[in-house]
Amino acid sequence: MIDKATIQKITDAANIVEVVSDYVHLVRRGRNYVGLCPFHNEKTPSFSVNSVRNFCYCFSCKKGGSPVNFIMEKEGLSYRDALLHLAAKYNIKVEEKELSDDERRQMDERESLLAANEWATTQMEKALRDTEEGRNVGLQYLYQRGVTDEAIRKFRLGYNLDTGHALADLAKLDGVDIPSLIATGVLGESQRMPGASYDRFRGRVIFPVLNPSGKVVALGGRDLKGGMAKYINSPESAIYKKSNELYGIYQAKSEIAKQDNCYLVEGYMDVIGMWQAGMENVVASSGTALTDGQIAMIHRFTENITLIYDGDAAGIKAALRGIDMLLSHKMNVKVLLLPDGHDPDSFARINTPEQFREYVKTNATDIIRFKAQVLLRDVGNDPQRRVAAIESVVQSLSHIPDKVKRNVYVQECSRILGVREDVIESAVEKSRGEIVARQIKQRNQSDVERIETDNRNPHPAVTGNLRSMKTKDLLEQYPYYPFERAIVFLCVRYGMLDFCEVTYEDGSTGMIDVMEYVTDELQDDDIWFSVPAFDKTINCILQLKTDYDLAKQQMAENIAAERESLLKQGYDDIAQKAMNVAEIKREERMLKERVEKEMTEREFNFSRYFIEQRLSSHHDDDVRHIVTEAINSEPPLSNIYLRNNPVSEMQMETERMHTLVQRSILEWKNELLNQKISAKMKSLNGQFSQSAPDEVQTILMEIQALMEKRGMLAKEIGDRTIGKKI
Ligand code: CTP
Ligand code: MN
Repeated sequence: MIDKATIQKITDAANIVEVVSDYVHLVRRGRNYVGLCPFHNEKTPSFSVNSVRNFCYCFSCKKGGSPVNFIMEKEGLSYRDALLHLAAKYNIKVEEKELSDDERRQMDERESLLAANEWATTQMEKALRDTEEGRNVGLQYLYQRGVTDEAIRKFRLGYNLDTGHALADLAKLDGVDIPSLIATGVLGESQRMPGASYDRFRGRVIFPVLNPSGKVVALGGRDLKGGMAKYINSPESAIYKKSNELYGIYQAKSEIAKQDNCYLVEGYMDVIGMWQAGMENVVASSGTALTDGQIAMIHRFTENITLIYDGDAAGIKAALRGIDMLLSHKMNVKVLLLPDGHDPDSFARINTPEQFREYVKTNATDIIRFKAQVLLRDVGNDPQRRVAAIESVVQSLSHIPDKVKRNVYVQECSRILGVREDVIESAVEKSRGEIVARQIKQRNQSDVERIETDNRNPHPAVTGNLRSMKTKDLLEQYPYYPFERAIVFLCVRYGMLDFCEVTYEDGSTGMIDVMEYVTDELQDDDIWFSVPAFDKTINCILQLKTDYDLAKQQMAENIAAERESLLKQGYDDIAQKAMNVAEIKREERMLKERVEKEMTEREFNFSRYFIEQRLSSHHDDDVRHIVTEAINSEPPLSNIYLRNNPVSEMQMETERMHTLVQRSILEWKNELLNQKISAKMKSLNGQFSQSAPDEVQTILMEIQALMEKRGMLAKEIGDRTIGKKI
């Protein structure tokens, strides 16, 4: 256990912008930062980081949360381990006791696989240097290929001894988890002798594949004896999806961001060759075609990519293969062909680093220009092939999402291809229309799928054993689950905001906040949260109230002081500019309005974010999950709406809060009536069979009354649904 004070220290120190920046290239946008979401593939940034709220959120996949949540999600860590991770980042000392057996068992699969890989990598790094075979065979091979000691350390290269069971034996000695080593492909299971394992990478030089945070997710082993398989790699596992990783990204990421460009090469040795030539912003797709996931990973650090290929026919073909995908990811793509027969590794060996860099600088060509030129060169005088070439260029152009950029290329390609600009343009726009239509269809489809999946397994908000329950069982046990969930979410988001003015029995009036309104409404009808995690969360919020009142008072005092000083400053400024009386009056009025608005907004935001700030790193899993999800499920204010309605964000939020809170409560009550009515109906069926007319009559009247009540509610809900102001 980490003690409370230390947790507080860690969550206080953890700055969301700093934490997220380790994974995402963030760009400032207004008060927030945006970047490409690290949780899903995307081409336009929907991941937003709010430094004031110390919170991040993806508008698209809805993931995010406090720094702790972010690390838990991103690194696949438990709450405790995420705290330790942050503590290490911020040099906060945590007194730790030994892992208990129980805790050890709780280490999830991912962590044991990562631990297995880390262990294997360390062993093989050692074997490369500390054993005679390692030095004579492995190291000798690397030196002969010009790899420096510095690169060996940087890329953590290693060697697996050739005995066939060197690692397997060591693992037993060290008590390393054998099944994990098998799962990550370090060891293989013997076919002939069940239970026995052998070194899969025996006699190979090892290239560990590190993910962006430096964890070894896979190993690649190069054969040194001219065997059948030049490379063998780790199989896919819980920590390794080949199509989502890029070799070298960990070593290159900061340089990619700094240079605002990424070189993409094919193989392990190419990355190392470029790196040694001083071009450190380089990654490899490991011999396969680029995937969406890989492009998205690069896009987190830069929009500019330079593909580097062998100048032979195969290289040219490879260069042209991925371009549409890259363009639709909004990447600016250049291509560089090396002299025939060379890859970056061999080219680096016959040139000095300066010559290599110079070659790269002068020979990188824009990919679309490259494509047009190459295709044109190949068609000769054949008119049909000419048409096909033009169509292919048009296809690529239509993948560029940005209209301005597209048009620039239309002009240029018109020139290269010798085709009228308007002809190309209309062909491109037509094809673009088709692509967009396809994308919209896909998006709608995935929305439907998402809703369906949500309905099948909709309960991220319940944790622990509830989380694993099937929807059907969950709803059976907690029939009002969806209604309770809606209200809890609203309480998290708006709980401390003023809701409405009420008149008490003695005639006095007062303001009640959302929490009071909700709890009053529920208690009026004698209903309460049945899901334990919801009940717990609501109680946590209610307990914050005293704290909130104190903090609010402090806040109000600060604001009053600041208002004073802003006004004084403003009056002084106005007095400086000598104006006539009318002008001075107008200026002063505007000043007052401006200051007033700013202060009100500040107070509003304080109340609005108080709950999430206190609870989003809460130690209780249920509470923290619910709070995080509540914030993440918050629909963003639509930009279009904001543009067309010149009201403040604050006004809009208030309006939305009123509508949502009332509607959600009414819907819960409505459902309650539905249940009552159907229960009565059931009992009615029973009565008919026993034919007791009086009782039937009574029940019918009761049903009638309930239905009337439901009708009234429905009308109210309807009014709310169209968003009427109260
Ligand atoms: N590759 C692989 N498995 C193979 C062959 C290749 O995973 N059987 C991947 C490796 O990542 C390799 C890349 O594809 O680095 C490029 O392959 P290739 O050009 O054949 O190898 P090189 O990197 O050039 O290796 P070397 O220079 O040592 O021959
Ligand atoms: Mn090579």
